[in-house]
Amino acid sequence: NRTDPFDFVLFGATGDLSRRKLLPAFLRRFMAQEFDDDARIICVARSNLTTEEFRDSVISSLREFAPEATQDKDTLHRFLGLLTYIYLDATKQEANWDGLRALLPESPRARVFYLATAPSLFSVLCQSLAEQGLVTPTSRVVLEKPIGTSLATAQAINTGVGRYFPEESIYRIDHYLGKEGVQNILALRFANPALEMLWSSSAIDHVQITAAETVGVEDRGSYYDEAGALRDMMQNHLLQILCMVAMDAPASLRSDDLRNEKMKVLNALRPMTPDMVRQNVIRGQYVSGTLKNRIVPGYTEDLNTGRSSSTETFVAIRTKIRTARWGNTPFYLRTGKRLATKTTEIVLQFRPQVWPIFTNMPSPGRLVIRIAPHEELSFVMAVRDPAAGSFRVQNAKLDMAYKNVFSLAYQDSYERLLLDAVRGDPALFIRRDEVDASWRWVEPILTSWQQALTPLEPYPAGSWGPPSARALLARDGAMWHEDM
Ligand code: BG6
Repeated sequence: NRTDPFDFVLFGATGDLSRRKLLPAFLRRFMAQEFDDDARIICVARSNLTTEEFRDSVISSLREFAPEATQDKDTLHRFLGLLTYIYLDATKQEANWDGLRALLPESPRARVFYLATAPSLFSVLCQSLAEQGLVTPTSRVVLEKPIGTSLATAQAINTGVGRYFPEESIYRIDHYLGKEGVQNILALRFANPALEMLWSSSAIDHVQITAAETVGVEDRGSYYDEAGALRDMMQNHLLQILCMVAMDAPASLRSDDLRNEKMKVLNALRPMTPDMVRQNVIRGQYVSGTLKNRIVPGYTEDLNTGRSSSTETFVAIRTKIRTARWGNTPFYLRTGKRLATKTTEIVLQFRPQVWPIFTNMPSPGRLVIRIAPHEELSFVMAVRDPAAGSFRVQNAKLDMAYKNVFSLAYQDSYERLLLDAVRGDPALFIRRDEVDASWRWVEPILTSWQQALTPLEPYPAGSWGPPSARALLARDGAMWHEDM
């Protein structure tokens, strides 16, 4: 599984994502011997540091975010030796492109430019890379989300980048696609024909997709307050999970076969008219509340700007997918900060028995696919209660926690995605038309919100969002998983 030598150029190397995720992910894959000492990771950022100073600062991030991988001093030292730092401010006339070029001699190696920068720099950076003669036939560019803040801005970015890189060399990251539990949806569905036979409106009453976080905005307030939960999580991560759950079987696992099937789902989402938004979308913002026995401040206090904000930190959506498979099955999506627990999960709620012969039927069975904090599958089904004297039926769970069965290869999805980009496998990255289709669906929600058609409802930190999120399901006779 060893990767050929490569040159990886990381823009935004001193930023939060690089420190928390990307460099620790590289270290872990280096420990796993997926690449050798001949790989080069060229770290670019706008701080005036030497390579030595940069490496020193990286050690503390690695100790914090991949502590187990820093135990072996020799490997850590060899890894640090792969990092070179270049001080380069692409917005400046006198930017040090010569320095970067000197580090990238003509070579058949895979060359990856990873842009962990503000999206406003994506096109500019790609243009400079091309003008500086740094884009070779083996070059790829990886774009971090968010790609745009609307359909038009996303298109502008994609067109800008597309002038210098062909679509097959553009890798748009959605780190949720690299998560083990999300990948496993493919196996669960398409390697288990019996399950796939249940996978439609005829057996499934509704589907819930939840990505709940306990963290607040932390120190990302200036980004988050512009973005909000809809742009930050829903437009990308939740819609991608929705595609994996709802798509038909792809012809193969090749990237375009997968992406074509995902596209069909995105195109089949019921469009959001203003009326639809009013009736099917809930937006909330956390206020101070008790989370894990601790009183935590509200969103505006977290922002600490002295102003109020109308940015949503919670969104719940009820939608349908206009296909023969799913026509009658509502999909409920929700995500939020400062919710009661950290969990990413998919719930497929089965339909009730049409002619119950038992007098005490418990709630219908369900399949729960948990992606975070741990990968787990549980199948809730009705069984006879052996402890009851009379014939009683009750629910019991078949559980499978991955960690009890497998040792997981990756601790973080970035480990897989970084090396996929290096190896040139785009299957887990987003194609341009997916970005467009996602924005096309999300944008009318934003427009309705701008016209104040949906109230921003407060919810206490540590809760499950505003009460109307519960009402959204109650209307269909359904309830969120935590209430079942
Ligand atoms: C990021 C969002 O894409 O995903 C963050 O910008 C969010 O706001 C994060 O916290 C959640 O990722 P994970 O992997 O921790 O669920």
